[in-house]
Amino acid sequence: MRACIVYFSRAGENYLDGEVKSLESGNTKVLAEMIRKFSGLPTFELEPLESYPVDYEEATQKAQRERMRDQSVPYKKTAICLRDFEGIILGYPNWWGSFPQIIKTFLLEADMAGKWIYPFCTHEGSGFGSSLSELQQLCPTATIKDGFTVRGFRVCKAEPAVKNWLTAIEQWEDLSENTSNR
Ligand SMILES: Cc1cc2nc3c(=O)[nH]c(=O)nc-3n(C[C@H](O)[C@H](O)[C@H](O)COP(=O)(O)O)c2cc1C
Repeated sequence: MRACIVYFSRAGENYLDGEVKSLESGNTKVLAEMIRKFSGLPTFELEPLESYPVDYEEATQKAQRERMRDQSVPYKKTAICLRDFEGIILGYPNWWGSFPQIIKTFLLEADMAGKWIYPFCTHEGSGFGSSLSELQQLCPTATIKDGFTVRGFRVCKAEPAVKNWLTAIEQWEDLSENTSNR
């Protein structure tokens, strides 16, 4: 394939539509699975070596500390070989106004030079926040394309919008099997 999906998501307690609820699968994971189902693209989940607390308050505090200290967040090895891909569809929840630090850790290690990124994000009202400009700063020679956001509690109803977004992506990118010899 010419592209792959890379995402991070956290299961456990989360603040959804005004109340704390426990999620078996994180919202971004649900969205990533939907994108995988409609696109057939290889999909990679970034899983931190040290998992986040299930408790919502504890998780938000840990995430805030990581962001304030600009910490890297080591993640379990994945089989991603970015050289094989022309671009990625990159998913994350909005944490403290941007992407979680694990996304930054991934992007600093990945060579995104000259590749494209279609971002998608779940949130509780802030949309992408400052994540798009931060993506561009981290990957100055990558092209940040039109992204997709959805409120976390509406993720299960996002299918039609996801299909439209993928159709739009396919007008710009060839996502089919990569047959070039590299
Ligand atoms: C640590 C943390 C920080 C968050 N910060 C924001 C925020 O700044 N703006 C926002 O709209 N939502 C924020 N949220 C809500 C999440 O973006 C939202 O619930 C998202 O759908 C969670 O995705 P996930 O289940 O894939 O982790 C935050 C949630 C957590 C756990």
